[in-house]
Amino acid sequence: MENLLPQLALAPAEGRDPKDYFGRAMSDVWLEVGFGGGEHLVWQAEAHPDIGMIGAEPYVSGMAKLLSHIAEKDSANIRLYMEDATDIIDSLPPSSLGRVFILFPDPWPKTRHHKRRFIQTAMLDALARALKPGGELRFATDDAGYLVWALERLMAHRAFVWLAQCPGDWRVRPTDWPQTRYEAKALHGVPIFLRFQRVP
Ligand SMILES: C[S@@+](CC[C@H](N)C(=O)[O-])C[C@H]1O[C@@H](n2cnc3c(N)ncnc32)[C@H](O)[C@@H]1O
Repeated sequence: MENLLPQLALAPAEGRDPKDYFGRAMSDVWLEVGFGGGEHLVWQAEAHPDIGMIGAEPYVSGMAKLLSHIAEKDSANIRLYMEDATDIIDSLPPSSLGRVFILFPDPWPKTRHHKRRFIQTAMLDALARALKPGGELRFATDDAGYLVWALERLMAHRAFVWLAQCPGDWRVRPTDWPQTRYEAKALHGVPIFLRFQRVP
């Protein structure tokens, strides 16, 4: 962690094109919020070597786990931020991300904690600004309460359109979307997979 993290860590700089955080030219940049153990982040980085992957995760054990995954690999297209993903999202210039992944975020089931949920209308406004038109927001949860909460806000938001055409589109995880540790645990219920497109 002492060796690899300083090489991969980024410090969000106001208005900086996220492609500049990488040591070589990237065709696009994707962000994963709360990557946990990092399995999904590493899979996407390996499957898309020309895409810059930014992962934000304040959980130290998660960061350590991710670094152990990438220790043996070429990590030129991964950059990490060990704090609140909101800092990065707010720092980005408009239309600078191609995809955002929010996979099994903490559900905060108690009503008095709902304000801590990552999906809030203000956050969707920020993501709509940072995502390119045609970009994608991927969200997954196994918590029925959080699912309803997220759908209510996403469906009401003018910048996002749900890409599902049939139940299989939200019941079945797409093939370019590997399972995360929290999906495998499915502590709260049935995992649901949502893909929303950022419309102009
Ligand atoms: C329930 S875990 C899911 C982890 C992983 N996405 C998975 O599916 O296995 C939620 C993760 O989000 C992280 N997290 C919570 N709030 C965050 C924030 N504001 N920015 C970045 N990560 C956050 C937590 O530290 C935690 O590791």
